[in-house]
Amino acid sequence: MDAQALKQTIKEIATKGKGILAADESTPTMGKRLAGINVESTEEKRRDYRQALFTTSGCEEFISGVILFEETLKQKARDGTPLSGVLTKKGIVPGIKVDKGLVELEGTSEKVTQGLEGLGDRLDDYKQHGARFAKWRAVYSISDSTPSDAVIKENASRLAKYAKVCQEHDVAPIVEPEVLINGDHSIERCAEVTEAVLKEVFVALDKEGVLLEGMILKPSMVISGKENDSRAGVEEVAKQTLEIFKKTIPESVQTINFLSGGQTPEESTAHLQAMNKMDDAPWYLSFSYGRALQEPALKAWAGKAENEKACQDAFFKRAKLNGLATKGEYSTDME
Ligand code: 13P
Repeated sequence: MDAQALKQTIKEIATKGKGILAADESTPTMGKRLAGINVESTEEKRRDYRQALFTTSGCEEFISGVILFEETLKQKARDGTPLSGVLTKKGIVPGIKVDKGLVELEGTSEKVTQGLEGLGDRLDDYKQHGARFAKWRAVYSISDSTPSDAVIKENASRLAKYAKVCQEHDVAPIVEPEVLINGDHSIERCAEVTEAVLKEVFVALDKEGVLLEGMILKPSMVISGKENDSRAGVEEVAKQTLEIFKKTIPESVQTINFLSGGQTPEESTAHLQAMNKMDDAPWYLSFSYGRALQEPALKAWAGKAENEKACQDAFFKRAKLNGLATKGEYSTDME
C-alpha cells in the first residue's frame, strides 16, 4: 500500500468548492433512467449521454472526480479518446464502481452487497484504464424490524474488506453505507439507524486496518422518510446529520461526500449548504450526487444530439450550485 498515493488522490478529490459526479449507474439502472425519457438504452446512447456530461465546459471548476461504471471506463468518445482520458485531461479523477450489486442475506429478507471475489484482479485492470478510486454501496432499509443487527454487521464487514483490498492496490475506496429514504419513518428513527450503521462501519474499518486518511465516506443524510407526513426541515436535517456524525466518524476521515438518495436536486443542495453554514465540522463536507446532479440534465437531453448544449447547461448549473454549497455560499434565489 502506497499511503502517499492514496492521500494524494483524496487531496485532489477533496478540493474546496468541488465534489464528485456519480455517473456509475449499472446498465440496467441506466436503462431505467433512459426509459424515463423514452430513449432506448443502447451502448451508443449511454456513451453519448455520458460524453455530453463529461465534456461540459468548465464543469471541472466544481467537479473533482467522476464515478464510472465499467462499460464507461472502457468506452471511447466519438473522436476515439477514452472517456477516462477526457476526464483526466480536465484534471478530473476517474473512479469505478466495483461492487456487483445486492443479494439476499440468507435467512433474512434483507440485502447485502456482493463483489469481493476477484476484486484485486479487477482493480488491476481498472487501474490500467485510469481509475484511481473505487466505490462500493451497501443499503439499509428502514422498517420497524430492519435493518437487523445481522445486516448491519455483514455490510460493515464487506465494506471494510473491500476498502482494504482497494488500498492494497493503491486505489482510494469510497465507503458508501446508504440508509434508504423509502418509507414513512421519522427523522429520529433515521438518526438511530444511521448511528448504528456508522458505528459498525468504523469498527469494521478499524479491524481491517483501513487508512482513514486514504478513503472517502459517502453516507446518506439523517432525514425523514420520503412518505412521512411531517418531514423535518432543512436546518433540522443538517443539525441531526452533524450530531450523529460527531458521535460516530473519526476526525481522521478527510472528506465526506454525500449521496442524494432520492432527494430532489434543490433539497440536496440546500441540505449541503446548511451543513457547511454550521461551519463546525472537522471534515470536508461535499457531494457525490447521482440523480441530484443529473436529473435536469437528462431531461433536457432527451436523447437528442441537438439538445446537448441544454443538457450541459443543466448539469453545469447543478454542479456550480453544489460547489457553492460546499463553501456555504449557495442561496435558494440562485435556483
Ligand atoms: P444518488 O445521488 O442518486 O443517490 O446516487 C449516488 C450513488 O452513487 C448511489 O450509489
